Amino acid sequence: MQSPSLPAVPAIEAEAFVHEYGAGATMMRALDRVSLQVAAGEFVSLVGPSGCGKTTLLRAAAGLIAADGAGLRVFGLPPGAGRAGRTFGLVTQDPGLLPWRTVAGNVALTAEVTGAPVDVRELLARVGVERFADFHPKELSGGMRQRVALARALAHRPRLLLMDEPFGALDELSREELRLELLRIWERDRVSVLFVTHSIREAVLLSDRVVVMTPSPGRVAADIHIELPRPRSLAMEVEPDFVRYVTQVRAALGSMPASVPVSVGAR
Ligand SMILES: Nc1ncnc2c1ncn2[C@@H]1O[C@H](COP(=O)(O)OP(=O)(O)OP(=O)(O)O)[C@@H](O)[C@H]1O
Ligand SMILES: [Mg+2]
Repeated sequence: MQSPSLPAVPAIEAEAFVHEYGAGATMMRALDRVSLQVAAGEFVSLVGPSGCGKTTLLRAAAGLIAADGAGLRVFGLPPGAGRAGRTFGLVTQDPGLLPWRTVAGNVALTAEVTGAPVDVRELLARVGVERFADFHPKELSGGMRQRVALARALAHRPRLLLMDEPFGALDELSREELRLELLRIWERDRVSVLFVTHSIREAVLLSDRVVVMTPSPGRVAADIHIELPRPRSLAMEVEPDFVRYVTQVRAALGSMPASVPVSVGAR
């Protein structure tokens, strides 16, 4: 337990972080002086137009793209160091499971790689797929595969979850179920989450803060605190406060003026 007198180190701290792809005439600036923080235990969503650099920021935080790390810290360390310390779990739109391994085998992979003890059954139960432990990925629905990917990301008990449109390929009902599942896991474990989504309502429902980015090159356009009570529920989506936050995020995205009322069904 951290002493209350010590300020907790933020999970992610970007300070005027710049990322450029290529060099010379083909150089392309993907992120332009992005400053944002994800506090320990905080749930932050990142929304912005396609190509604004959301995936780039997540990959940089994961230490997956060559960057000198200037202006970016993960638990106070350069991103590569965070990677070595197994501080984060990464979930992307494509679950990326190994087809020749069973569900249990895919989740156990982390243990085999890191040598850390993993209770595979407990993890599968946590995301609601324990009955499918002996199935292969091709025998699962898209939603179940994504649950397995989440279990795999949680296997080494990360302090940070980096999630890049994890529910983007799912139908609306599976997506709603997984949102609630993720909230339950987050409320229990209080991991820090940086969550990329194209759904404004998903961002508002899940987050403590929604960070809105500008079109490319990505900058932070707005950082909106979502002060809805927790635990959150789907029923909240029709409440005036929820609708107001959705309107605010839309306005920050530049797609509509803040004063225009949003129909609740719109996304
Ligand atoms: N490996 C790469 N090499 C060169 N340019 C890249 C590379 N990866 C991304 N880019 C460019 O960087 C910009 C940001 O891409 P990025 O994938 O981070 O956007 P994004 O916000 O995640 O978009 P989307 O919402 O469509 O997933 C885009 O213009 C993209 O073409
Ligand atoms: Mg992306």
